[in-house]
Amino acid sequence: MTIRHFLLDTDLTPGEQSAILDAADHIKATRRVRSTEPGPLAGRSVALLFEKPSTRTRMSFDVAVAELGGHCVVVDAATTQLGRGESIEDTAAVFSRYVDAIVVRTFAQDRLERMAAAASVPVVNALSDHAHPCQALADLQTIRERRGSLAGLTLAYFGDGNNVAHSLVLAGALAGMRVRVASPPGYEPFEQVLRQAARIGLVTGGAVSVTHDALAAASGADVLYTDVWASMGQDAEADSRSLVFQPYQLDEKVVEAAGADAIVMHCLPAHRGLEITGSVLDGPRSVVLDQAENRLHAQKALLAFLLERTDPISRSSPRVLAAEVTP
Ligand code: CP
Ligand code: NVA
Repeated sequence: MTIRHFLLDTDLTPGEQSAILDAADHIKATRRVRSTEPGPLAGRSVALLFEKPSTRTRMSFDVAVAELGGHCVVVDAATTQLGRGESIEDTAAVFSRYVDAIVVRTFAQDRLERMAAAASVPVVNALSDHAHPCQALADLQTIRERRGSLAGLTLAYFGDGNNVAHSLVLAGALAGMRVRVASPPGYEPFEQVLRQAARIGLVTGGAVSVTHDALAAASGADVLYTDVWASMGQDAEADSRSLVFQPYQLDEKVVEAAGADAIVMHCLPAHRGLEITGSVLDGPRSVVLDQAENRLHAQKALLAFLLERTDPISRSSPRVLAAEVTP
């Protein structure tokens, strides 16, 4: 039985990632065109399970499934038996009997992997401590809209080598981009992720580098990207981190060091005056609302892709035809 999960950016090949971005562009361009055809998710249901807060991911997946003709069940994990200690494996197996895909926002990547191992439907990473691959798809779609293509572009990321950084490094490498990460010592992306991106880059022409010098990273870059300094689950470290990360703020000086038509990106939610100044976030180069919107289009393309390539659910209870029960 083939099940396609999306737990990490590298669950797609470079060609598959590119095809999903093409489909996302088409979906965006034709969003308001009325069709009499049933949507690709007609008669299907998707579960959205959250172990952390969310605004964009929750909204965009819910609307995406509805617009594809399907039904979405949004579940706050704390209100389920998972919140009282039921195992992630039992949860995944039971969900698989009800829905056609499970979209999960959680903590450790291991929780997603365990869920995928026990599920008989696709599992999608809607953010873990390790990666945020759905965000990276929408980000690449946004960059392509502005610059026409991705290969050879330089993306400079400032701040914490976190989940968003990991996905940008990997998805950027798949797209043949050069990703520079400027982080304080001790907060760089994981070595394993950097090595994986470098290996992918050998095939795609992409590259990844890490520096402690924000202005050097910005020099000549096409894209300037930042994210929060303290991610969900790190709130207790917010004050100490704000001192360490101050030299990596995406401010006017960083923008001036970049290419003349560089765009500014942030996955949101943002903290004006911390990782990015208000004038840069709200300024003319900012594409943050396009990024947020593109979550909708990219995730529609992703769900259609995963479901097309996953064998239909073989539920253990046999399906009975209406004719067989009619007396
Ligand atoms: N960017 C993003 O994932 O936002 P939410 O946390 O609001 O879903
Ligand atoms: N790095 C952030 C991203 C939020 C969308 C976090 O994990 O909280």
